[in-house]
Amino acid sequence: MKFYFAPLEGITRYIFRNAYEKYYGGIDKYFAPFISPTDNCFLTPKNVRELCPEHNQGIKLVPQILTNNSVAFIGAAKELYDMGYKELNLNLGCPSGTVCAKKKGAGFLTEWYEMEQLFDSIYEWADSNNVKISIKTRLGRFAPEEFYDILEIYNRYPISELIVHPRIEKDYYKGKPRMEFYEYAVEHSKAPVIYNGNLFTCEDIIKRSETSDTVMLGRGLLYNPELIKQFVIYEDECNEIKTYDLIDVTDKLCQDKAYDFKNFWSFHDEIYHGYQEIMAPDKNVLFHMKELWTYWKELYTDCDREIRNILKTKNYGEYEAAIRQLK
Ligand SMILES: Cc1cc2nc3c(=O)[nH]c(=O)nc-3n(C[C@H](O)[C@H](O)[C@H](O)COP(=O)(O)O)c2cc1C
Repeated sequence: MKFYFAPLEGITRYIFRNAYEKYYGGIDKYFAPFISPTDNCFLTPKNVRELCPEHNQGIKLVPQILTNNSVAFIGAAKELYDMGYKELNLNLGCPSGTVCAKKKGAGFLTEWYEMEQLFDSIYEWADSNNVKISIKTRLGRFAPEEFYDILEIYNRYPISELIVHPRIEKDYYKGKPRMEFYEYAVEHSKAPVIYNGNLFTCEDIIKRSETSDTVMLGRGLLYNPELIKQFVIYEDECNEIKTYDLIDVTDKLCQDKAYDFKNFWSFHDEIYHGYQEIMAPDKNVLFHMKELWTYWKELYTDCDREIRNILKTKNYGEYEAAIRQLK
C-alpha cells in the first residue's frame, strides 16, 4: 500500500511536512498546497521558500498548480523544473467560492473547451521536457454525472495519475464521497486512479485497500498522525490472525497499543518552534497552531475544557501554559 499526503493549504507547509516526516513518516509522496501563478508572476518569494529543495530534503514532494491559464502553468512549471521538480499536479478540485468564480479549481470543470486547450499546451510542454503532470479532480461542479464527459477529456491526455476526490464543488468537504463515480473512474480511466476522501480510520483504509493500492490521505493524518503506523500494525495483525474479524483485531489493538503521546508532543514542538522561526509573533504562529488543534483535539477524550483554553490563548505564554495542562 502506498500513501500520499494530500495538499492542505495553510497546514501542510514545509515546516509541517518536515516534522511529519521526522516523527511519523511512511509517506510516498507529499503534495504541496496549491500555488496560483499569474501571467506576470509565476512564483512568489513565499512559493519559492515553501518549495525550494533546501526546505524539502529527504521527502518526495509534488508541487501543485492552480490555474486555467497555460502561460501561467508553463511559466511556473519551468521555474519549478529549474528547482528540480519533474512531477507536477494540476488542481481541478478546489471548491472555494472565490476560486471557482474565476473558473479555476473545481470551477474549471464545466469549461470543457478551455480545459482541452489548457491540456493541449501543458501536456505538449510536459512531453518535450520529460515532466509528469498528474491531476487532482472532483467529479464535477454542479452534478456528479458531469464526470462522464470530464473523464472522456482526461482520457485523451497522458495524465500520470488521476487523483479522484469523489465529490462535486457544492459538496465542499461534507457528506459521503460518491463511491459509485470513483468505481466508474477506476473502470474507465486510462491514467492510474488514486482515491482521496474521508479515510479517517484503519478500517477505512483496509476497506479501500481491497481495490486501491495507493490512497491519498488528508484530514485523517491530522486527526490521527499515527494513522499509517497503526494501519501497518493492523494489516500485519490481520494477516496473522485470520480467524479474527476486522473489528476484533482493531479492538484488540486499540486496547493493547497506547498512543505514543511523547512522539506526538515532539512533533508538536518541532512545528511550534519551526513556525516561531518563520512567522511573525505571537498571533500568526498561534493562528496556525490553533488550526491544527481543531484536528488534534480528537486525540484527547474528555479534555474539552483544556482544548478550549488552548483555542483562547493570545500569546506564547498563555499557549504554553494551556498545552502544559495536556502534556
Ligand atoms: C484546510 C484544507 C486545505 C486544503 N487545501 C488544498 C490544496 O491546497 N489543494 C488541493 O488540491 N486540495 C486541498 N484540500 C483538499 C484536500 O487535499 C483533500 O482533497 C480533502 O481534504 C479530502 O481528503 P480527506 O478527506 O482525506 O481530508 C484542502 C482541504 C482542507 C480541509
